Amino acid sequence: MGERPKSKPLLRRRGEAPAAVAGGSRPERIEVHGVTHRFGTNKRSAPALVGVDLTVEPGEFICLVGPSGCGKTTLLKLIAGFFEPTLGAVLVNGEPVVNPGADRGMVFQQPTLFPWLTVRGNVEIGPRMSGTPHQQLRALSNRYLELVGLADVADQRPHELSGGMQQRCAIARALANDPAIVLMDEPFGALDALTRERLQQELKEIWQATGKSIVFVTHSVEEAVYLGTRVVVLSPRPGRIVYDEPVLLPGLNGSGADARLLPEFTALRARIGSMIGAT
Ligand SMILES: Nc1ncnc2c1ncn2[C@@H]1O[C@H](COP(=O)(O)OP(=O)(O)OP(=O)(O)O)[C@@H](O)[C@H]1O
Ligand SMILES: [Mg+2]
Repeated sequence: MGERPKSKPLLRRRGEAPAAVAGGSRPERIEVHGVTHRFGTNKRSAPALVGVDLTVEPGEFICLVGPSGCGKTTLLKLIAGFFEPTLGAVLVNGEPVVNPGADRGMVFQQPTLFPWLTVRGNVEIGPRMSGTPHQQLRALSNRYLELVGLADVADQRPHELSGGMQQRCAIARALANDPAIVLMDEPFGALDALTRERLQQELKEIWQATGKSIVFVTHSVEEAVYLGTRVVVLSPRPGRIVYDEPVLLPGLNGSGADARLLPEFTALRARIGSMIGAT
């Protein structure tokens, strides 16, 4: 991947000049060194993760796939700093991760919105707390609410939304913080096919425009190969990395063609799919 600018506005709509509401976060390197994680104190129970080594270079888009219960969410939460690993270390830009931080935004598998805030309030809460001037907050929330198709429900509360709408609100909230690292746990799992495809495209464009480091969990191998610069596969519990390869689609060659129509895409998807079936 080529050099990315260190500071870019956070989102452009297609064909639109860069927006002025930039947080301008810097891409960051994530290192996971020899991580084994066990929940609870029973040493006879299988750990959730074993010996996981993973380096995410600044600006990479890693897609993490694997069977249910293999530790994908656990790995994201370790990177987010919700808890520390039983063994090993997680570093961001060389510093041990011991707490959550504004540089790491997480979209959870189940949307977790503040029920007392409106949809707009949920999207604005992070930038508001980090001191974004009032007049920019509205522009920021308008932009992200439009992106995820929630502009017309901006004044409603989360309980008035469907599950998919809540998830879209959570995506908007995470992106509005302009974190350098975006951790996404099956963010599109609850969406209809059309919305999913639109948000995949938008996420790709956001990543291209901002150079954020993204770790994206999905059960869809097709989505992983389409979005990721690298696909990482975890084995069934205890989760260990059994595949970690860049997505190379020479047939694409900057042509702007739909990668999913390439024979290399189909072959890679089938290869990873059969591996997940076999692990
Ligand atoms: N807080 C917890 N306490 C005890 N065990 C846990 C906890 N969180 C996760 N686990 C266990 O750790 C293992 C990995 O869970 P995790 O949620 O990371 O899996 P996953 O790969 O994200 O699965 P899915 O695809 O179903 O979301 C599972 O066996 C799960 O039961
Ligand atoms: Mg999970």
